[in-house]
Amino acid sequence: MAGKIKLGVLGSGSGSNMQAIMDAIDAGELNAEIVLVMSDFPDAYILERARKAGLPAEVIDCGGYKTKFPDESQAAVAAKLKDAGVEIVCLAGFMRLVKQPLLEVFPDRILNIHPSLLPAYPGLMAWKQAVDDGATESGCTVHHVDAGMDTGPIILQAKVPVLPDDDAASLHARIQIQEHSLYPRAISKIAKTATEK
Ligand code: GAR
Repeated sequence: MAGKIKLGVLGSGSGSNMQAIMDAIDAGELNAEIVLVMSDFPDAYILERARKAGLPAEVIDCGGYKTKFPDESQAAVAAKLKDAGVEIVCLAGFMRLVKQPLLEVFPDRILNIHPSLLPAYPGLMAWKQAVDDGATESGCTVHHVDAGMDTGPIILQAKVPVLPDDDAASLHARIQIQEHSLYPRAISKIAKTATEK
């Protein structure tokens, strides 16, 4: 069997998508290993999940900025990911915009999961945008990351109906169920292409 592809995961929150990636690896559905997990929030549960699983977990120093991802921080993250041997970077609920210092080190190798059918509802709280908009369908998207906000080439999508009695939380919960199977499948697809090259 070909070698496992090395993943780095960046997240800002609970890390349920990272958990889904770990579960897919354990189940033999994704030929990969997570070699580094990084978060911009020291208290983010994604770091605790990583540590519990015995994975290296590090806090990203964003220089005290709440939402900005300074160039120096991006360069430092890129260097750490490279040092760890990361081949594919997975954004899993990472809430800062990735720009050149990271993009240029991992061209076409940074993936993101977004809770809508892009190009619909980019940006924050996409599930709430869908409910507020009266949409009857939403879903989730895994895409390559480029310098825009949720604009890179789409890899896979899954549709989720918006039910008449949905609120933002109930829709997000159903979207997340789809995310958890979509993200490992999308990573597997990209990993196979990457190892063929
Ligand atoms: C997920 O629903 C993901 O799609 C979303 O944040 C959540 C993270 O959940 N990402 C974005 O909105 C990015 N624009 P998790 O921490 O449990 O994986």
